[in-house]
Amino acid sequence: MKMRSFLVLSIVLVVIIPNMGKVKGRGRGSKWWGIIRAGEPSNLISNSLKENSFMNTYLDPAVHATLRRKQRRLVREHPGVVVALAKGTRQAISECKHQFKNRRWNCLTKENSQGRGLFGKIVDKACRETSFIYSLTSAAVTHSVARACSEGTIESCTCDYTQRGPSGSDWEWGGCSDNIQFGMKFSREFVDAGEKARDMRCLVNLHNNEAGRAHVSSEMRQECKCHGMSGSCTVRTCWMRLPSFRAVGDNLKDRFDGASRVLVNNAGRIPGKSKKRFASQLKPLNPDHKPPSRKDLVYYENSPNFCEKNPKLGIPGTQGRYCNESSIGMDGCDLMCCGRGYKTEVREVIERCNCTFHWCCEVKCKVCRTKRTIHTCL
Ligand SMILES: *[C@@H]1O[C@H](CO)[C@@H](O)[C@H](O)[C@H]1NC(C)=O
Ligand SMILES: *[C@@H]1O[C@H](CO)[C@@H](O)[C@H](O)[C@H]1NC(C)=O
Repeated sequence: MKMRSFLVLSIVLVVIIPNMGKVKGRGRGSKWWGIIRAGEPSNLISNSLKENSFMNTYLDPAVHATLRRKQRRLVREHPGVVVALAKGTRQAISECKHQFKNRRWNCLTKENSQGRGLFGKIVDKACRETSFIYSLTSAAVTHSVARACSEGTIESCTCDYTQRGPSGSDWEWGGCSDNIQFGMKFSREFVDAGEKARDMRCLVNLHNNEAGRAHVSSEMRQECKCHGMSGSCTVRTCWMRLPSFRAVGDNLKDRFDGASRVLVNNAGRIPGKSKKRFASQLKPLNPDHKPPSRKDLVYYENSPNFCEKNPKLGIPGTQGRYCNESSIGMDGCDLMCCGRGYKTEVREVIERCNCTFHWCCEVKCKVCRTKRTIHTCL
C-alpha cells in the first residue's frame, strides 16, 4: 500500500516538474535584476564595515539568492562591483521609463519585487518590449562597470591605459579612459550567465544582451584636454569616454522600433555545443528582410495588447493615462486611449517657480499655482 502511494506520488512529480520548468524558464536569465536592492542599507549586513570602501561584498541573503553560482563568484572576485550593478540596474529602469513615457507600454516596474519580477510579467514573452529590456539592462551593466573602473570603485580594475594607439602630431594618449573592455567582458560573463538552455529564447536573449553591449562600445568618444601655456593647445592628452546612457537609450529605442522578428526553428531546440555559434543563425521571419545585425534587437512573439487591463500579463491598460490632445504620435489621445475616448479637466497645479540662486549656495523658489488642462483616457 505504501509502495503504491509512493509510486503515484513519483508519477505526479514527474508530470508536474517539467511544466513548472517551462513556466519558470520564460523570464529566464533575468533573476539578477534583484541586485537592484543591493544598494539599500538594510542589505549590507554590517554597517560597521562602512569604513571599508569595498564593503558591498557582504550582502543580504536575499540579494545573494538573486544570483547564480557563477554570478556570486564574479561578485566575490570583483569587490565593489555590486554597487555598480545596482546603480546600472536603476539607470536602466529610469532610462526605460524615459524612453517609453509616451507609449501605451510605459515600462512599468515593481521595484520591491524579486529578481525577474522587476519589469513585470512582460518578460515572459519574447516580444519587442522584452528585447528592449534585456538589451538595456545588459548595456547598463557594461556602462556602469566600465565607469566604476575609471572611478576606482571596483577593486580589480582601473582606468583603461591600453588606449595608446598612434598619437596625433599635437596630442598623446595619457588620460584615464573608461574601461570598456572590462565592462564588456564583465557583462558577458555576468549577464549571460543566466542563459543556459539551448532553445530559441536563450539565443534571442543572448543576441539582445550583446546588442546592448555593442551600443555602448561603439559610441565611445575621444576626449582631450589642453595643457599648453596660457590655455594654448600645443600639448594635449586624450582618453576614451563612455557615451551618456541617454545616448545608448536613444539608440536602443530606435532599434526597438525597427526590431527584427526572427523565425522560430523546430521545437525551439538548438543542436550542437556552442550557443555563440548558433546565435548567428537567427533568421528573419520575412525572407525578404536582411538577417539581424549585431546591433539589432530580435524577438519572435507578438506584443500583448497594452490597451486593456490584463492581470494575467500584469498589464494595467491605458485607462487613466495622460494623453496629448494635439499630438499625432503614440501619446496622442486617439492612440493612447485606443479609441475609447478621453476626459478633459482643468486642474490647478502647485509647483516651484521663479527660482533664483543666492550666493552661496542656495536656491530660493516661489510657489506658483497654475491652471492646466489635462486629458486622461477613459
Ligand atoms: C503635445 O504635442 C504637441 C505636438 O506634438 C507638442 O508640441 C506639445 O509640447 C505636447 N504637449 C505636452 C504637454 O507634451
Ligand atoms: C516670476 O518672475 C517674473 C519675471 O521676473 C514675474 O513677471 C512674475 O510675476 C513672477 N511670478 C511670481 C509668481 O512671482
